[in-house]
Amino acid sequence: MRTRITELLGIKYPIVQGGMMWVGLAEMASAVSNAGGLGLITALTQPSPEALAKEIERCREMTDKPFGVNLTFTVRPKPLPYHEYAAVIAESGVKIVETAGNNPEPFMAGFKKAGIIVIHKCTSVRHGLKAERLGCDVISMDGFECAGHPGEDDTPNFVLLPCAAAQIKVPLLASGGVGNARSLVAALALGADGVNMGTRFMATKEAPIHENVKQAIVAGDERSSTHILRKMRNTSRIYKNSVALKIREIEARPDSTFQEIADLVAGVKNNVVYQTGDLEAGTWTAGMVMGLIHDIPTCKELLDRMVSEAQEIVNSQLAKSFAA
Ligand SMILES: Cc1cc2nc3c(=O)[nH]c(=O)nc-3n(C[C@H](O)[C@H](O)[C@H](O)COP(=O)(O)O)c2cc1C
Repeated sequence: MRTRITELLGIKYPIVQGGMMWVGLAEMASAVSNAGGLGLITALTQPSPEALAKEIERCREMTDKPFGVNLTFTVRPKPLPYHEYAAVIAESGVKIVETAGNNPEPFMAGFKKAGIIVIHKCTSVRHGLKAERLGCDVISMDGFECAGHPGEDDTPNFVLLPCAAAQIKVPLLASGGVGNARSLVAALALGADGVNMGTRFMATKEAPIHENVKQAIVAGDERSSTHILRKMRNTSRIYKNSVALKIREIEARPDSTFQEIADLVAGVKNNVVYQTGDLEAGTWTAGMVMGLIHDIPTCKELLDRMVSEAQEIVNSQLAKSFAA
């Protein structure tokens, strides 16, 4: 395939694996890159900037294709050494970074000096335009459907993408709810130059998570995720398990506070779920796109299939609809 995304990133298919806390290890990123997409290591999954440098090296041994690093600026009581993580990325020679979570401005000069292509992931057109003004090279639009943080505007991709495409000039990625060939075709038709997927990549052979989690994603449907933390204006879409329902119950009480749910939402418990396969051990991230996920292929099988079926949809089904 050839789009502005394949050209700019030097990849075969316009398909990116978004940053995934605890899941975005070298195994995941290299598998996606070897399959013709763009894999991303998730910086904050590494306990220190030094560990990130080693993970980048490990990924380099697993693929000779382009891969990148996601750096997410999260809301935390104690700030993380983001500038040190960013410096490690620049020094490592990695040429593609996905930023998310907050304004990337303080990091742009360093990334640009190192010749890095910056993909900024955001959830609204206004934030996309701001990132474009700051010099970001690609905007990844996370619609309401997305796993993780969809923002507070609740605009699904059917509206968000064409709105973004009408105003943003740099290449655009459609993120959130993308799971198969139909999603890929739709994303391109809505004005994107490629897609970004999270949940779909969790249900692949190479994803470094427990088989129970992969099976739960396959068994799940479009109603198996839910939002939490809306009250704190830090909305997060996660798998709808007993922990998620408990959090929602507490949040629904008008007098409830964050302290009451702090332990339930502790991020480290996500990793317990991913490592042990105990699906009720904590909250864990997955999106509505579970409704489109019915198997656990290799990344190569997944991407080859998405692209060949997309071609079939365009050349046969759609072409027929417009035939005189
Ligand atoms: C397990 C998991 C962890 C995630 N962690 C992050 C993260 O640390 N930083 C980030 O920018 N996005 C994160 N995301 C969001 C994805 O990068 C992507 O934007 C989202 O999954 C797209 O929606 P989809 O799951 O419907 O494809 C995560 C998603 C998942 C499924």
